[in-house]
Amino acid sequence: MPVSSQLSARQIAAVKVALFLACLLPLALLAHNAWNDALGANPIEAVTRGLGDWALNFLLITLTVTPLRRYTGLAWLARLRRMLGLYCFFYAALHVTSYLWFDQFFDWTAIAKDILKRPFITAGFIAFMLLIPLAATSNNAMVRRLGGKHWLALHRSVYPIAIIGVVHYTWMVKLDVAQPLVYAAIAAVLLGLRVLWRVQEKRRQLAGAYLPKAKGRVIEIAVKR
Ligand code: HEM
Repeated sequence: MPVSSQLSARQIAAVKVALFLACLLPLALLAHNAWNDALGANPIEAVTRGLGDWALNFLLITLTVTPLRRYTGLAWLARLRRMLGLYCFFYAALHVTSYLWFDQFFDWTAIAKDILKRPFITAGFIAFMLLIPLAATSNNAMVRRLGGKHWLALHRSVYPIAIIGVVHYTWMVKLDVAQPLVYAAIAAVLLGLRVLWRVQEKRRQLAGAYLPKAKGRVIEIAVKR
């Protein structure tokens, strides 16, 4: 069955419910493994890392929506972007909570020292701080309040957040950087596409500005096919 570029409101609602539940699966799996004592030798590390992985996964999945929409013509994909972005924030918030609680026991002095002392924690902290305004302004009321232009400008910070998120992961890993490099490559492609589109758009604008103006009478020609 071909996938339509248009979905009815009911179909969109069904897709959104299915996606909402699917996005909870990583958390359910972590909870299941924790319940069954299947998190390995260091369960706290497994929880913090698992949640961090999914925060970054959702960040990159969110950034995949626009290229997918543009290249497939499936306009309705854009309707899923907000939920995916909010899931990124949800997993990031759980990841940070896991660190604050299980790693640091809410010792705020130790936490402040850790943020200042360990570069990968500093990077994670910056990425999380930048995610907060995006999550807080993700609803329609905030889009209206900020105005489309300002809202877009604010939400462009998702690009540096992706870079800082990958840096956070890369700096955390001491030896085997294979996995962070895979994330870095995916982020590079997703951000590279944005740069490419921007260059193409600028070229189109320039070409439009220098297009010779028609002189005299314009004769319309009907072409028969
Ligand atoms: C205040 C903010 C943050 C803090 C304090 C923090 C802290 C940490 C810590 C301590 C680890 C290592 C866990 C361990 O070895 O036990 C870690 C790993 C990680 N964090 Fe964060 N993080 C923060 C924000 C973020 C954000 C915003 C993202 C993603 C967008 C993220 C993604 C990751 C990833 C992918 C890992 C590696 C997981 C793995 O090894 O598979 N973190 N973080």
